[in-house]
Amino acid sequence: MTRFDNRTVLISAGADGLGLSMAERFSREGAAAVVLDRSAEAIGTAKARPEAKGIRFEQVDLMDDVALAATVSRLEADGLRLDTLVNNAGGSLHTPRPFLEERDEDWDRVMGLNVTAAVRLTRLVLPHMMEKGFGRIVNLGSKAGRYGSLFTGANYVAAKGAVQSMTLQLAQEFGPHGITCNAVCPGAILTPRVEGLLAQRMTPEEREAALQAIPMRRNGRVEDVAATVAFLASEEAGFITGQLIDVNGGQGMCS
Ligand SMILES: NC(=O)c1ccc[n+]([C@@H]2O[C@H](COP(=O)([O-])OP(=O)(O)OC[C@H]3O[C@@H](n4cnc5c(N)ncnc54)[C@H](O)[C@@H]3O)[C@@H](O)[C@H]2O)c1
Repeated sequence: MTRFDNRTVLISAGADGLGLSMAERFSREGAAAVVLDRSAEAIGTAKARPEAKGIRFEQVDLMDDVALAATVSRLEADGLRLDTLVNNAGGSLHTPRPFLEERDEDWDRVMGLNVTAAVRLTRLVLPHMMEKGFGRIVNLGSKAGRYGSLFTGANYVAAKGAVQSMTLQLAQEFGPHGITCNAVCPGAILTPRVEGLLAQRMTPEEREAALQAIPMRRNGRVEDVAATVAFLASEEAGFITGQLIDVNGGQGMCS
């Protein structure tokens, strides 16, 4: 027996970065893992990885509500009974950091992918969890959404704040159905995309100073986040709900 035998996990935007690491971990631990992602290229690259063998990839743009609903219906028609949802889609989408440079369009895009996509997907998956009387929802918040950010803007910080607050409310509302809802809030995790962003927005001196502000004196790894998501999705985390879990090496703490 492995931890996620007989479990079916849906991960949004999981063909790359943190989401792929989570999908591979769930798959390795026995789950049927399904990834939604809009990028054919990322899906192709992910599928070529031996670790991704057994993961089902569905190409869909999470901002297309009709296509998203059709995809979830197709999974259901194929006999998959979703019990775990990781709302991983999000990011600052290379919008400007200075508040006065962020246009309405920047706010709409960032709120759309981080918040609206999570709302829609959760609405589609919850009825399956309620039918089972069991469910695990893990949302991706961020250190930025908890404590502000040195290199992303107010739109991203506010979007993650919304995801984190929604987490508390879903935990309240769906706890009686056996469904937990928590958020994992990572600090900077060194994916190639984040490496690029840090190099573009911070000097080497600023990066070194940021590292010195992390008690664990290192940046985060995708595995750090995947391990935390997997724990919250496990059976043994059944009494933990409505919590915002920081995964940031101690860079941000609160009592
Ligand atoms: N990487 C970090 O340092 C970090 C830190 C804190 C929080 N987070 C959060 O973790 C989550 C994952 O971050 P990441 O850095 O791995 O993401 P990423 O930017 O690397 O993107 C992962 C995937 O999202 C897909 N994607 C983008 N838009 C999509 C859409 N409209 N429809 C479907 N797929 C789409 C991309 O094709 C890509 O494969 C996000 O919510 C992010 O805000 C990341």
